[in-house]
Amino acid sequence: MGCLNLSTTNKRLFFALWPDSTVREKLYQLAQQIALEHNGRITRADTIHLTLLFAGHINADQQEQLEMVANEIQLPPFELSLNGVKHWKKPQVLWAGVSETPQPLSQLVMMLQHAAQGAEIKCDMRFHPHVTLLRKAREPLQFSTFEPVIWQVNDFVLIESRLEPDHVRYEILRRWPLNKNI
Ligand code: 2AM
Repeated sequence: MGCLNLSTTNKRLFFALWPDSTVREKLYQLAQQIALEHNGRITRADTIHLTLLFAGHINADQQEQLEMVANEIQLPPFELSLNGVKHWKKPQVLWAGVSETPQPLSQLVMMLQHAAQGAEIKCDMRFHPHVTLLRKAREPLQFSTFEPVIWQVNDFVLIESRLEPDHVRYEILRRWPLNKNI
């Protein structure tokens, strides 16, 4: 996943779906359960999320352009059913995926991608809905099944990712509600 917007003063930003405490706890428990069977580093509970668009290091003008587009987005809330664990070999990540991608989610990502293009942000336009549960995880010999985690999505957020000396910190900069009246 490569993004080439580097500068020391720019912020490292991404749009995401941010779970409420109930869904967060369920996903964290799932990560703990999977970690019993597989090697890997569990995602910290407070950083669990689903990335919509990773913008990378962008400047204030680009951030403003993204936010202006986000302000205009009118999409209904939707439900995600996280019901499968998958593995990516190269980044060595174990992740929870959705049974199907709801249309408003695809539309939301498309709109954010257009916004990124408009702001001349060079970032990865591939989208694969996933919640990273374990990093540095070897490919499992077999995947255990689990009860689907149902995530009612009512908003999306813009996150600043800060690399602190011994960990990464995600701060919610803004939150946009989805429109219940659509
Ligand atoms: P992940 O969803 O697999 O964890 C913040 O870094 C978030 O953006 C992470 O959730 C990360 O992946 C995602 N992301 C997507 N592309 C990235 C990139 N090029 N560099 C860092 N993180 C990226």
